Amino acid sequence: MNTQLENILNETLKELNYDYKTKVVKSNIEGVDFQCDDAFKLAKEYHKAPFVIAEEITNKIKENQNFSDIFKEINVSKPGFININVSDKLINSSLRELMTKEKLGATLENETIVIDYGGPNVAKPLHVGHLRTAIIGQAINNILKFKGNKTIGDVHLGDIGAQMGQVIYGIIHDFPDTKYEDIEFDLEYLNVTYPKMSGLCKEDEKVRQECAEITKKLQEGDPNYQILWKKIFDLSVSDIKRIYDYLDVHFDYWYGESDAYKQFPEMMAYLDKQDCVKLDNGAKIIDVKEEDDKIDIPPCIIQKSDGAYLYATSDLGTIWQRQKDFHPDEILYVVDARQSMYFTQVFRVAKKTGIYNGKLIHYGNGTVNGKDNKPFKTRTGGALKLEELINEVKEEFIKLRPENQNMATEDLDKIVNSILKFADLQNDLTRNYIFDIKKFSEVNGKTGPYILYTYLRINKLLSQNDGELSDKIYNDTDRNLRLKLLEVSKVIDEASKERRPHIIANYLYELSVIANNFYQNNHVSNLEGQIKNDYNIVLTYNNLVLKTLLDLLGIHIPKTM
Ligand code: ARG
Repeated sequence: MNTQLENILNETLKELNYDYKTKVVKSNIEGVDFQCDDAFKLAKEYHKAPFVIAEEITNKIKENQNFSDIFKEINVSKPGFININVSDKLINSSLRELMTKEKLGATLENETIVIDYGGPNVAKPLHVGHLRTAIIGQAINNILKFKGNKTIGDVHLGDIGAQMGQVIYGIIHDFPDTKYEDIEFDLEYLNVTYPKMSGLCKEDEKVRQECAEITKKLQEGDPNYQILWKKIFDLSVSDIKRIYDYLDVHFDYWYGESDAYKQFPEMMAYLDKQDCVKLDNGAKIIDVKEEDDKIDIPPCIIQKSDGAYLYATSDLGTIWQRQKDFHPDEILYVVDARQSMYFTQVFRVAKKTGIYNGKLIHYGNGTVNGKDNKPFKTRTGGALKLEELINEVKEEFIKLRPENQNMATEDLDKIVNSILKFADLQNDLTRNYIFDIKKFSEVNGKTGPYILYTYLRINKLLSQNDGELSDKIYNDTDRNLRLKLLEVSKVIDEASKERRPHIIANYLYELSVIANNFYQNNHVSNLEGQIKNDYNIVLTYNNLVLKTLLDLLGIHIPKTM
């Protein structure tokens, strides 16, 4: 609708001999649909009063034969704002057109985009710190896929770092007389052994060194350690998958850092031929400073003097593999914002060495904080396990109303998901936010349950559509709802372009508020005839919009609540 109005205004400007491309925006003023503030810019350029120019424009538009088909009213408010109210006819014809479009009118794209999100570490349980990357990454994946792109989700497991050597050390000492093949342990054992070992390494330098030695051998492919590594990997990854499944977070590839190691012979041979790779006390480093850097960006080390590889090397190996296998137009990373310096280094190395020339972007996510506005911790100071957070949310929601106790498990899980995800996705991904379980579980307010409730409540009113949408609009709440629905295509396009799911979450909330207002002011079930038919069409579309957008955020609608 904005574009249509902009076209008319631009046409008028041309007729008036102004050389200018104008913008029409949604108005925040009660009773005004759209506004155009460009008379001020034109005034500067053409040395006239803004009010005079605005009047010229509106007068010219009013001369148009089809004026009343498009506008209900157009006027100027001092000192030069153009206020536009569109006609009911235009709203309805636009709505009819939107309803015939696929994908809610979003434009189509076709890029190949790798999305790196999740990034959990094997042998450690998922904790609250893993929530955002998983939820945001999956939402971005869903949105980009909806737009027609080929997306490739890769979890990028941390499966060959220091924790692996530590846990292997623990196992070897706990089962001294058993052959590696025959050693058996379960998840519970693993969950105890990792913290135990990591604590021990902090206290005992000798143990720490022995663990590091195991890690190094493992990275070099030691077949014996690999037997234990595989057991740890299978156990831990199946547990990680279980939680991701619960959150409806899925990946096309479950590659880990260890897979990147397979690329090293080829990649290092290539890098050794690049001039920018330098030796520094035996270590291989690449300078990545650039002239207009505001802060110091240290060189990126890709191999230590003892031959060991680093986190950065594994990311470069992964880029190498992605380029070879997928030829992506873009690789985007949803990873904690605190790694932003690191990604700057890695991306610069990839560009400088020619490993990858496409787009590399790090969408650095903020943290989930506790009431003290610091990253969420348990009472004892450890990281809260993701599963514990999920259970706390479940309990809180059940406590809210007695009838929640008897809810079907499937429905309850969908609501828990809506609480977690809407709490998260309503914030710009770069921001930190405080997780207030009580507030986010409420059915009133800017919460997942509120949106779900809106959908279910309206769904009860709907019947089969059997007519066309007429040109009538019946009252203000009706008008507001229709105008809001017309924004949906732009909302999806913008969320996709910016890779910002919160744009969709905020629209969902605003639409729900408007839809609830409509619900309260129009007693739809008491109506008959054309008005009932029109409302049915609008509300059916409203629920299609709610459901489609919720799906994009990974939120699914329960049968009842
Ligand atoms: N496992 C890493 C960590 O816990 C996160 C991985 C992020 N992804 C990546 N490609 N580096 O910090």
